[in-house]
Amino acid sequence: MAISRRQYDAVVVGAGGAGLRAALQLAEAGLKVAVLSKVFPTRSHTVAAQGGIGAALGNMGEDSWLWHMYDTVKGSDYLGDQDAIEFLCREAPQAIIELEHFGMPFDRNDDGTIYQRPFGGHSSNFGEKPVQRSCCAADRSGHAMLHTLYQRNVRANTQFYVEWMALDLIRDAQGNVLGVTAMEMETGEISILQARATLFATGGAGRIYASTTNAFINTGDGLGIAARAGLPLEDMEFWQFHPTGVAGAGVLITEGVRGEGGYLLNKDGERFMERYAPNMKDLASRDVVARAMATEIKEGRGAGKDADYVLLKLDHLGLETIEKRLPGIREIARKFANVDPVRDPIPVVPTVHYQMGGIPTNYYGEVVVPGANGPNTIVPGFYAAGEVACASVHGANRLGTNSLTDLVVFGKATGDRVIEFLKNNPGQRELPADAADYTLDRMNRLDTRKGGEDPASVARDMRRTMQFHCGVFRFPDTLTEGVAKIREVYERAQHLEIKDKSRVFNTARIEALELLNLIEVARATMVSAEARKESRGAHDRADFHERNDVEWLKHSLWYRDGDRLDYKGVTLKPLTAESFEPKARVY
Ligand code: FUM
Repeated sequence: MAISRRQYDAVVVGAGGAGLRAALQLAEAGLKVAVLSKVFPTRSHTVAAQGGIGAALGNMGEDSWLWHMYDTVKGSDYLGDQDAIEFLCREAPQAIIELEHFGMPFDRNDDGTIYQRPFGGHSSNFGEKPVQRSCCAADRSGHAMLHTLYQRNVRANTQFYVEWMALDLIRDAQGNVLGVTAMEMETGEISILQARATLFATGGAGRIYASTTNAFINTGDGLGIAARAGLPLEDMEFWQFHPTGVAGAGVLITEGVRGEGGYLLNKDGERFMERYAPNMKDLASRDVVARAMATEIKEGRGAGKDADYVLLKLDHLGLETIEKRLPGIREIARKFANVDPVRDPIPVVPTVHYQMGGIPTNYYGEVVVPGANGPNTIVPGFYAAGEVACASVHGANRLGTNSLTDLVVFGKATGDRVIEFLKNNPGQRELPADAADYTLDRMNRLDTRKGGEDPASVARDMRRTMQFHCGVFRFPDTLTEGVAKIREVYERAQHLEIKDKSRVFNTARIEALELLNLIEVARATMVSAEARKESRGAHDRADFHERNDVEWLKHSLWYRDGDRLDYKGVTLKPLTAESFEPKARVY
């Protein structure tokens, strides 16, 4: 098959917040930039972010980047790398001011400054009391941010490949990354996008689970591609369950509801978070709140006829506040839970929301892997930012609002790093003659297989296995069984058959390709979770109930080849601040 080839200075895969922020930096520097996206850019999953962006602006009272850093380190259950966390928190205020100057329509205070609301795990004075740090645009902050960044990119002449799916990395014999193979989804045509620098900003993979706040597009494409290229995936056992997904529907109800004064109740009308987190209550960090909710349900204090959810009360905020600050939530509650929160509480359950792990990077977005003989090495020409990357700032549990901060801070930093790399590495490297062979082989096998596995049924079994064996609470026997089961599902996924081979919109083909990415993530997650014999952040094991810093203060690295694990140390030394030494984590 003749393969068309296009050349760029940089190819960015993914058009969410990180991809668009990086692309903007590159395009404004006069570089030739292509952004590939499976959907129209403003439909990327960043659009679904609700509650805001964390930055210590101090508009509502005293705040400081160091307090933000402390909260983030503590929130991560000390697994976050403190150099990257300092970078994130120091850069955050400037990133917000930049967005403001780009035209992002933030909510305002009477004096014209950006309105900020409280959010879980964010405190003033090193945990003393909740602080108002989340810069928001009502409950549609991601929507406002994504549209702003898209418009700036259009102005900067970024070239968009809309409804294109990246398939595999292209590397030469020296390990340099030279671009990607990709499919135009409408026609099924495969092309080479050759680039001097390749940046993955493909988002997360929440779709490995049955119940998630994630969009259908969140299929871990960047992770699957990186794993197939022999690169490790870091800390994949850590998945965040957002406390408030609509029961039965999984749709997100922002933590901003609790930030504005809403709170959780069990069936007896008890404000149970007072028992679990006496100081921060409903604004404790997400892993703590999600576990408290799951415990209430497990111990029979859930609401509803099956006692399988808790209630989020916000009617006391009043119609005016709800309409001004949380209009989207009112709409979601009416549509998906059939309740009007102005009068009635919303039924909610913890729901898979965010992947803390990802492709290992430093805080400039360079992909960094352990070298054959010890020291870390940078993969030349390859970058990752946003949820697909693990910098690692979120460690074992991310704080709400830090995801959007991560997108813009690391999106920009990665763009800057790419510009520097391109200055030092002029000209395209030569493409190997077999650059597309791996992809073409994969496609050919998928397209010609007869009597193979049905992708929909393999995907269903993967999601059920993940949901049951790797949830909020994890048990030794279910984890061990989970590893065996997910390996079985993995084997079946290697024999997928596409029933509908028409090349019109390629729905069946795309779903099979997405499943091949998801299953790598599912396997990495289950294997990493089974191996980590401690409880830390979002990883809670019934048989190892405590955090164990002596043996487990380290990052997991899962390799596809051999389905094996390795580990690397946590960076406890910040850039300029004093280290926050691990200590008991209470809210
Ligand atoms: O609750 C929310 O609005 C989600 C925010 C986040 O995940 O950062």
